[in-house]
Amino acid sequence: MASVLVVLVLAVASLVNKGRASPTSGRQCVQLEVPVVVNTSAIHWLQKKVDSTIDVVDWVDDMTTWSSPNTTSRILGQITVKDTFKISGQLCVPAKGPRSDTLQLATHGVGFDKRYWDVEIRSDQYSYVDSVLAEGYSIFTYDRLGTGASSKPDAYDVVSTGVQVEILRQLTILARSGKLASASKKVGGSSNLSSYKPTKIVQVGHSLGSVIIIGLLTADGASSDGAILTGFLYNSQIGSASVAPWGFEYAKENDPKKFGDRGSGYIVQATKANTQLVFLKKGAFEPALLDYAWEVRQPNSVGEFISLGTVLGQPAPAFKGPVQFFIGEKDYGFCGGDCNHTYNVTALKELYPASSALSVHLQPGTGHGLTLSTNATAGYKVIFNFLHGSGL
Ligand SMILES: *[C@@H]1O[C@H](CO)[C@@H](O)[C@H](O)[C@H]1NC(C)=O
Ligand SMILES: *[C@@H]1O[C@H](CO)[C@@H](O)[C@H](O)[C@H]1NC(C)=O
Ligand SMILES: *[C@@H]1O[C@H](CO)[C@@H](O)[C@H](O)[C@H]1NC(C)=O
Ligand SMILES: *[C@@H]1O[C@H](CO)[C@@H](O)[C@H](O)[C@H]1NC(C)=O
Ligand SMILES: *[C@@H]1O[C@H](CO)[C@@H](O)[C@H](O)[C@H]1NC(C)=O
Ligand SMILES: *[C@@H]1O[C@H](CO)[C@@H](O)[C@H](O)[C@H]1NC(C)=O
Repeated sequence: MASVLVVLVLAVASLVNKGRASPTSGRQCVQLEVPVVVNTSAIHWLQKKVDSTIDVVDWVDDMTTWSSPNTTSRILGQITVKDTFKISGQLCVPAKGPRSDTLQLATHGVGFDKRYWDVEIRSDQYSYVDSVLAEGYSIFTYDRLGTGASSKPDAYDVVSTGVQVEILRQLTILARSGKLASASKKVGGSSNLSSYKPTKIVQVGHSLGSVIIIGLLTADGASSDGAILTGFLYNSQIGSASVAPWGFEYAKENDPKKFGDRGSGYIVQATKANTQLVFLKKGAFEPALLDYAWEVRQPNSVGEFISLGTVLGQPAPAFKGPVQFFIGEKDYGFCGGDCNHTYNVTALKELYPASSALSVHLQPGTGHGLTLSTNATAGYKVIFNFLHGSGL
């Protein structure tokens, strides 16, 4: 039995390695620990303390039954966040890339870390990083503050949407200056990309990552040459997205081995069934990808949820690039399972009055977890064609 297991593990390991060892695109990557200097103000919220799963369920109850949908009434004041955070990132540049001067800077959403963009199972069909490199672009992916190998500070006020926006802004500045690799500690990878300097930066997000980009476009629209907002759509259903389907539990209790370093306020989707409900639509995923999503799941902070709305709905008049909303047609959380006929392009254009192009794409049959769903690469082509249409 034990030896069967060993053989299985080795077989899976070799599959994973094969995906990585034979990149058609000439994958050159370096893994970095980026010191991100933050000096910004953040909101101090009236929030329930979350130090156990019993507390988490009470927090979900509170979040879903507020007598008032007005989160402003929960603002207690402002705090200053002045710190240097460690952000774990990966920079990849294609060996020969017609568009290697364009850097896609990708921010993942709730429930994952940067591996969301670089799925290791059948990476030729699922890895967004591999598809981007094959298309000739460069890409930087990173673990959002509070996830993966990045710093995990206070989960109530510090790990919040506003602070994540500032981190993305600083990463964009660092990348544009050509110092992303040279200012960082190299922790892996064989390539020396310390002189890489992009001329264009396209921010790509998934879910909360897209919300963070939306915040950046409003705060500093000129820092973006283009925005791809996946797993997010302003629509008639947006207010009904709930934290309940995640079945959140206290991270450290849910898996002490994986999440022993997560403290107060860090929560994680409880079961594989919750992961399926939130991210995957039957008929549009392979079971191995659900297993993978469960394996690489990541906790997030309670502060990110209460602060989610603070950056939404505000226009970004200084943003001049193209913007695409890209969402699974069957997205459960954002569209109540059917995105068709839920949005208004005229209203979207009012938020981005100077944008060179705006489009909405519904990926057929697919749920919220776009990179984990069948037909993912055909969806990536839609994104690339949209960018090409705007000269990127
Ligand atoms: C941090 O920001 C405040 C307010 O903008 C400013 O007064 C202060 O000089 C900044 N501190 C550093 C170390 O940059
Ligand atoms: C929300 O609450 C704040 C503070 O309690 C109040 O000033 C504001 O008018 C409220 N906004 C709405 C839309 O009710
Ligand atoms: C990496 O490349 C840069 C610029 O091309 C060079 O200055 C630096 O010495 C190189 N570092 C290593 C470790 O090869
Ligand atoms: C949306 O609904 C229309 C019919 O109202 C249909 O023609 C179209 O194919 C649907 N779009 C998607 C992406 O499912
Ligand atoms: C779409 O949005 C525009 C601009 O906000 C508005 O004038 C129009 O009535 C909306 N259309 C529908 C069908 O709601
Ligand atoms: C796969 O995705 C592409 C791009 O959105 C779409 O045109 C195509 O119809 C999809 N195929 C299936 C089987 O859903």
